[in-house]
Amino acid sequence: MRVLVVGGGGREHALCWGLDRSPKVEELHAAPGNAGIATIATCHAADADDVRAQVDLAEELDADLVVIGPEAPLVAGLADELRARGRRAFGPGRDAAHLEGSKAFAKDLMVRHGIPTARAVAYTRADWDRDPRDVLSFLDLELGGRGAVVKADGLAAGKGVTVASDRAEAVSAIEACLEGGAFGAAGERVLIEERLEGPEVSAFAFVDATSIVPLALAQDFKRVGAGDTGPNTGGMGAYSPLPWLEEPMESRAWAVVAATVDALRADGIAYAGLLYTGLMLTEDGPKVLEYNCRFGDPETQVVIPRLRSDLAEVLDACASDRLADVKVDLSDEAAVTVVLASGGYPGSYETGLPIEGLKAAAAAPDAAVFHSGSGERDGRVVTAGGRVLAVTGWGPAVADARRCAYDAASHISFDGMIRRDDIAARAVEEAR
Ligand code: AMP
Ligand code: GLY
Repeated sequence: MRVLVVGGGGREHALCWGLDRSPKVEELHAAPGNAGIATIATCHAADADDVRAQVDLAEELDADLVVIGPEAPLVAGLADELRARGRRAFGPGRDAAHLEGSKAFAKDLMVRHGIPTARAVAYTRADWDRDPRDVLSFLDLELGGRGAVVKADGLAAGKGVTVASDRAEAVSAIEACLEGGAFGAAGERVLIEERLEGPEVSAFAFVDATSIVPLALAQDFKRVGAGDTGPNTGGMGAYSPLPWLEEPMESRAWAVVAATVDALRADGIAYAGLLYTGLMLTEDGPKVLEYNCRFGDPETQVVIPRLRSDLAEVLDACASDRLADVKVDLSDEAAVTVVLASGGYPGSYETGLPIEGLKAAAAAPDAAVFHSGSGERDGRVVTAGGRVLAVTGWGPAVADARRCAYDAASHISFDGMIRRDDIAARAVEEAR
């Protein structure tokens, strides 16, 4: 099989790493890829978001399967364009990707189909212009003095959500979107939502026209600082499985995922690809925080190393509605990934800094180094993004995996590098 992976982050490196192990993959391509991906795949200069360029590349390569990593090209309809040309694409079409592309659309689906989620109301810029008091009435009357969450409706690169600790913070987030133009068109509609409490989990499932195959549960660490402090990021680390998660909560979480797929089907929306359901485990049971129409980053860096089945076979089956024919086998082993990021991230940061210690890290046992934002300059691997690397370790239990991840990561350094030292620490404590 000739496979093209669209994207150039840690998630795509982990996908390439899995695909590279498959005897079915004869040629592996990535666009745009990165310095890590370039060690196992042929990288092509095409932006992940450039639908036209990606379609042209798939045609030129005569790709048998195109695996679409990030959300933006999915929401822009890359999978539809590829299918229209008779190519197999892993990832949902534009209609189904709307689940991530519009939080108001997702909320409406959940409400209509009785899927548990936080109470919310959507408002547009026009509502605000007409009467701001109307917009704030839900906040004041329905949510009372309790905390609120304000979400830009559209894609905002993981930055569109404000978990407000008081009314003033909620109001300023609403104003920033509806009046200040924060997030551009993505913020011209906002969702004002009830704030939920509880541990968060991410559920990953493969979905095609007729099947749902639960893949894994994972937890990621969104705040930049140890102890969940500081601003939100794309994710500073992750681990899987979740040893602390007990029945019946786990089954209830998967039931919510299944209900989502039923709801999509009832609405006549075909989903093909990976469905990521972000859940909060509240006292009233699991409730949906968000849906993503793709693998998580950095969760993929812990889920793929646990996969025992042939990744190419599974993705190809999913892309051709044959999921029911393949076995998706996940090991009971644990994996932990630790992100090494640029100083200043998630704010502004320098790039082009040489990365030391990659060889020694690669030689560390039971570990792999996935590149998220790296490039090459004068024959050296340099930093090229906010999140630079994700170092994954694995072993029989979370404690072993954690040790391997941090051992391997300890070899790596670059100017200003930051990382959290408490990834999966609580899970290890609780398992004692
Ligand atoms: P999202 O991009 O929707 O996943 O939101 C980013 C983060 O905001 C989530 O991972 C949660 O930590 C938090 N969040 C989102 N919605 C809520 C909510 N209704 N209550 C509490 N926290 C939330
Ligand atoms: N790690 C969160 C995400 O991929 O959206």
